[in-house]
Amino acid sequence: MKKRKKKTIIIFLFIIILTGSILFIFLNNTKEIKNKELKVNKVADTSLSAKLKNEKYYIENNLDRYLKYAGENTDLELSKIIADVNSNLDKTKYEDTEKTNIKDNNLMLVNKYYYLTENYEPDDLITLTAKYNTGINSKMRKEAADHFMKMSDAATLDNITIKNASGYRSYSYQVNLYDKYVERDGKKAADTYSARPGFSEHQTGLVSDINQIDNSFENTDAFKWLQNNAYKYGFILRFPKDKEDITGYQYEPWHYRYVGEYAAEKMHDENLTLEEYYAYYVENN
Ligand code: DAL
Ligand code: ZN
Repeated sequence: MKKRKKKTIIIFLFIIILTGSILFIFLNNTKEIKNKELKVNKVADTSLSAKLKNEKYYIENNLDRYLKYAGENTDLELSKIIADVNSNLDKTKYEDTEKTNIKDNNLMLVNKYYYLTENYEPDDLITLTAKYNTGINSKMRKEAADHFMKMSDAATLDNITIKNASGYRSYSYQVNLYDKYVERDGKKAADTYSARPGFSEHQTGLVSDINQIDNSFENTDAFKWLQNNAYKYGFILRFPKDKEDITGYQYEPWHYRYVGEYAAEKMHDENLTLEEYYAYYVENN
């Protein structure tokens, strides 16, 4: 009887020691695998960082955001990761917002992340005469208006008519316009082509919708002329066809934004939107 008891205790102890050893080996292995994985991830991160750093529009302050965005969008090219994050596509539109810096003047960025307050109205608006204007929103800031008139005069010499159809729009005007579109098409659709009040760059006084506000404008000689010449007068096509995700809006062949000649030429030459230009050449400096 005593012998049997002893045997049971030995077997019991043996089982405990065996289970303990197996558990110890298993846990250690898991830890090692985890450490290895961490090391691999770190190496991958380091080499991704190195590759990102070689990209033309890389911004050091955005590195962590590039890495996170790259992890969430594994099919994207590096240049696209940079362009998207520089344009804030990793943030939530109309939620992660901040007041735009109006001191940026001609380069102030107003989009779905940067807004103007309700009471913002430029103090140097001038009214375009009928020679340069067709609609009711006939005001633009002085420098932009001067350049617009120069551009229109130059186009006239080439037998092209260029007139402003919608320039400065106040916050309250945009309230009515946006509400009208929401009522007609619903909020989701309206957001693809109309800015919410405070988020429209028409409120900057630096914008002109030219001649006809519809897609057929693309097929006109005036549009072709603008494609070749607008930048020479400091204007850019603000919502191009191939960058709708970056600007957050559908293609608008009629909507031109004054940014000044230097920036317009650079954006034209480097095929950059104001979002991309602003992040790299304005904010980053
Ligand atoms: N259509 C442009 C996006 C605006 O409403 O300002
Ligand atoms: Zn417009």
